[in-house]
Amino acid sequence: MSDFITLEMIDRAVDVIRSKTSRKPEVGLILGSGLGDLADSIQPADYIDYREIPEWPRSTIMGHKGRLVIGELESKSVLIMQGRAHYYEGYPMHVVGFPIRVMIRLGIKYLIVTNAAGAVNPDYQPGDLMLIKDHLSLVGMCGLNPLRGPNIDELGERFPDMSQAYNPALLKLAKEAAAEKGIQAREGVYICLSGPSFETPADLRFLRTIGADAVGMSTVPEVIVAHHGGIKVLGISGISNKANLDGSNVTTHEEVLEAGKVLVPKLDAIVRGVLRRIS
Ligand code: HPA
Repeated sequence: MSDFITLEMIDRAVDVIRSKTSRKPEVGLILGSGLGDLADSIQPADYIDYREIPEWPRSTIMGHKGRLVIGELESKSVLIMQGRAHYYEGYPMHVVGFPIRVMIRLGIKYLIVTNAAGAVNPDYQPGDLMLIKDHLSLVGMCGLNPLRGPNIDELGERFPDMSQAYNPALLKLAKEAAAEKGIQAREGVYICLSGPSFETPADLRFLRTIGADAVGMSTVPEVIVAHHGGIKVLGISGISNKANLDGSNVTTHEEVLEAGKVLVPKLDAIVRGVLRRIS
């Protein structure tokens, strides 16, 4: 890919997707590590391998499939990213945000983004869901912002406001959907680090001090690009491992994938409940 993304590059990807599906998705859904099963429940669906879409970044990570699934879920037309690319895989931040740019040009109005995250809040347990009310873009503060580079004025403004990056109305719908099914949903702040190494106990104590409840290596670049482009965002973290603030336990990728099995049914219920409530 060239230094920065252009509208032409985005629209080439849009044209390829439109040539492979006649559906007009209005909701985008990104499924994180170990959380990809929801897409398998959609029948019938159109499938597009990421390799077929020009410039689309592919995930190299176990637990990420690497395709778009486009179909109907709860009577809404959805485009699901089954797997995503991360900064730590070697992609620049603007490439990590590329799929969202494509969603904007496809006319998608809502984005539900999920991730597996580590607990920073000591009250959180593996298997908990956290609705994201705000984020700390630690990577962005250090210069790794997906909007860096020439602004694409057709998509959004140069200096976008981020005071409501997570749409309050969608958050309310998610809380209602969770309550309806008796699912305890926490509400907190997600912090994005570059990874791929997990945090040291000192890192985690620092993250707690600056206001984080859960930590991960994704989501924030996608949310920034979506909000810049006027897409309303709901973010949900599946807590896959406990806070390691005192260094007494280790964190593994297998543990993250294993927690997905507990998380998927709850996530599924909330996502479906939100889709039913979106008018
Ligand atoms: N840290 C960072 N990213 C993660 C974690 C974690 O503990 N768990 C899942 N993704």
